[in-house]
Amino acid sequence: MARIAVIFGTTDGQTAKIVRHVADLLRSERHLVQILDTRAPLPQSPLGNVDGVVLAASIRMGKFQRPLLAFVREHREALLRIPTVFLAVSLSAARQTPPARREVQKTIARFVAETKFTPGEILPVAGALPYSRYGFFTKLAILFISKISGGDTDTSRDYEYTDWAAVSSFARSFAVRLREASPLPPAPADGHRAAVAT
Ligand SMILES: Cc1cc2nc3c(=O)[nH]c(=O)nc-3n(C[C@H](O)[C@H](O)[C@H](O)COP(=O)(O)O)c2cc1C
Repeated sequence: MARIAVIFGTTDGQTAKIVRHVADLLRSERHLVQILDTRAPLPQSPLGNVDGVVLAASIRMGKFQRPLLAFVREHREALLRIPTVFLAVSLSAARQTPPARREVQKTIARFVAETKFTPGEILPVAGALPYSRYGFFTKLAILFISKISGGDTDTSRDYEYTDWAAVSSFARSFAVRLREASPLPPAPADGHRAAVAT
């Protein structure tokens, strides 16, 4: 059983939804998980006694959320010592075209350059287009971008592109890797462990 911190940045809530899904899956694999939203004040030593970290943020105007970047910069030394994964949420990841892929890679490269930290693994994740949550000007801007990039333009509804199976499989492989690094304690003599570890 490993202690895992899931640390995220979000603006419209899709990354928050994705990290809750990841946390549920890690808990179902019997890891101890703490979710930390970088918009809120964080505990004094958020990475003390942590065996692994899931970082997640979404791309807005070519950048990830500043508080997540600040967190990574501040805790870089600790992050370098433990297994880490990074979920990079965006609309470009939903497009699957070479220019869209390049845009995601460029944003990730800027994240690495700005934080001087390279996560152990990185998964670009398709986000959402929640038109109903946007204010007038954001809706107009996103509608314009969607029109020129061939995206969805019906502003009377919300769209979700997240590939939940891909997110689950990524989280599951992290769970397995951490289990190998932090195995369950040895079974007690009365065989109780067998009843737990089904
Ligand atoms: C104002 C705004 C700017 C955005 N900029 C980008 C961008 O530069 N590249 C991209 O791929 N997606 C962009 N997106 C799409 C978001 O990454 C996507 O909606 C994601 O799901 C948002 O995640 P969140 O709800 O966790 O903030 C933008 C969305 C908004 C509303």
